[in-house]
Amino acid sequence: MDRTLTLLGIETSCDDTAAAVVRAPAQGGPEILSSEVLGQTALHEAYGGVVPEIAARAHAERLDVVVETALARAGVGLGAIDAIAVTAGPGLIGGVLSGVMLARGLAAARGLPLVAVNHLAGHALTPRLTDGIGFPYLMLLVSGGHCQFLLVMGADSFRRLGGTIDDAPGEAFDKTAKLLGLPQPGGPSVEAEAALGDPARFRFPRPLLDREGCDMSFSGLKTALLRARDALVAEKGGITVQDRRDLCAGFQLAVAEVLAAKTARALAMVAGEHPTTLAVAGGVAANKTIRAMLETVSEQAGLPFLAPPLRLCTDNAAMIAWAGIERMRAGLENPPDFVARPRWPLDQTAPALLGSGKKGAKA
Ligand code: KG4
Ligand code: ZN
Repeated sequence: MDRTLTLLGIETSCDDTAAAVVRAPAQGGPEILSSEVLGQTALHEAYGGVVPEIAARAHAERLDVVVETALARAGVGLGAIDAIAVTAGPGLIGGVLSGVMLARGLAAARGLPLVAVNHLAGHALTPRLTDGIGFPYLMLLVSGGHCQFLLVMGADSFRRLGGTIDDAPGEAFDKTAKLLGLPQPGGPSVEAEAALGDPARFRFPRPLLDREGCDMSFSGLKTALLRARDALVAEKGGITVQDRRDLCAGFQLAVAEVLAAKTARALAMVAGEHPTTLAVAGGVAANKTIRAMLETVSEQAGLPFLAPPLRLCTDNAAMIAWAGIERMRAGLENPPDFVARPRWPLDQTAPALLGSGKKGAKA
């Protein structure tokens, strides 16, 4: 029988400094005792994207306080921790190193085991933390930095079915917002405008729909939007509030339709393996239009649809602690001499994805 495990998780791979304590009892579901996330949006705002050096420095400066807060809120001391799980990649290497160094120091000082966790595995295993779903399941990871379909078969067993070959959808939302003078992060502001717009007025491209498999491309969409905006400006000297709403609605529908069509494809590709669930994670999964379309696709395939609560869909350390617990429970090896990695594909057999997003390598 499994023993109770209490892990401290540490996450610093992008622009959130996060620490969490998760306890998995011998029997029954796991419990998130605390989950602290300190964002850095304000630090990077002026630069139009995450600046790696600023991110790394901010992580190094704040991580000890975030860890202390996570332990205090959980009501446990380090003495109650069985192991430390830390994101060892993929991500901005300076940030990853800040987390790994702190984790190493704590583990050495307290004689605790250290578990190196792949950030993407953290996202991919979250539906088991929140809902205890069984393997295998299909996961669509869709955020500002990631976009890929994974068949999740075990704690360390993932098959990447496809993903974006250029921008991640969240990045496309952010760039669209920028082009239209809307506030960052772009997703929520574009969604709010789109709700008041006519999605049929501008017909944006649905790239790669004619290509087999479930790879996607979102960078052309942004160019199409730029052209449509410039055409309006050339014609009328500017864009009206309604133009902007219609552009947002057309853009959002294009992203949603591509994601839905490719999700249907991914589901068909793995039908023979009888996935238990279609799960989504990442900030873009908050979008109501996208979520509704994915839910429909899931229903059509006869599968339950699962979107964990947003605070666990976006970057956090509870998912890292949980992935550590999954690794320990599965009896996987956790060599203490691991290295921090900027790129670390979950599925080592899948061909490399192209490109690197504004938030770093997409792996
Ligand atoms: O998962 P996340 O918090 O961070 C990483 O990228 O790792 O995702 C953030 C991304 C941003 O690009 C943001 O614009 C997008 O998710 N996003 C949304 C929505 N809320 C956040 N995109 C579309 N619709 C939304 N409602
Ligand atoms: Zn992430």
